Amino acid sequence: MKLCVALDMQSREQNLNLAKDLAELDIWLKVGLRSYLRDGEKFINELKELSGAKIFLDLKLHDIPNTMADAAEVIANLNVDMINVHASAGKRAMCEVITRLNALPVRPLVLAVSALTSFNEKEFKAVYSKNINESVKNFSISAYEAGLDGMVCSVFESKMIKEATSDKFLTLTPGIRPFGEAKGDQSRVANIETARRENSDFIVVGRPIYEDNNPREICERILSQIKAVREMPQA
Ligand code: C5P
Repeated sequence: MKLCVALDMQSREQNLNLAKDLAELDIWLKVGLRSYLRDGEKFINELKELSGAKIFLDLKLHDIPNTMADAAEVIANLNVDMINVHASAGKRAMCEVITRLNALPVRPLVLAVSALTSFNEKEFKAVYSKNINESVKNFSISAYEAGLDGMVCSVFESKMIKEATSDKFLTLTPGIRPFGEAKGDQSRVANIETARRENSDFIVVGRPIYEDNNPREICERILSQIKAVREMPQA
């Protein structure tokens, strides 16, 4: 299980300082929509230079197939290591993205967003008219059949996704609160032990790290907990 740190701080300088502070740790860095729209490709390149960590560009593309594939191709050419699209754009759109990216010499991992971890059951149903589990399962099967590499989901769907697709189909789970921190706007949160038990491949942690007085120390504590739970018997 890998730790992916969300660089969701307010300014470019704060995000670069955080990345610098975490340099040399065995982590991924996640760049979100605000940073990318404001700070662009130059920011991605600066991050690569100062950190050496792999980069997940979390732009959650959602559009018609051709437009989504056009955008995915531009992002892939930034040489980031992971990108994502919304599964609710449909299987045809996901197929088009993967077909286009497979024609490149190298491509990033491509994940599909299932149900945002901020949704509770009632809010999700108001948008999709279905319960979360059923929809996530359907989204995952579509994404797997389209040839994507995995899903962005809550910890509580990780195991079910692998059972419905393959053990090798990756799950990346935001909404992690390692030491019982405040949920903020998240609804479906879990700790590291639960993430491990549910076979999550990547955990995403933002506020519990960057809102702490000592982000590097929190990251180190999370990494040692990941190491400790790795020894737990596989479910
Ligand atoms: O601060 P926190 O740990 O809640 O940050 C979670 C990060 O994961 C945020 O950057 C958020 O945009 C992202 N994310 C999420 N739920 C998803 C997909 C991405 O929380 N389904």
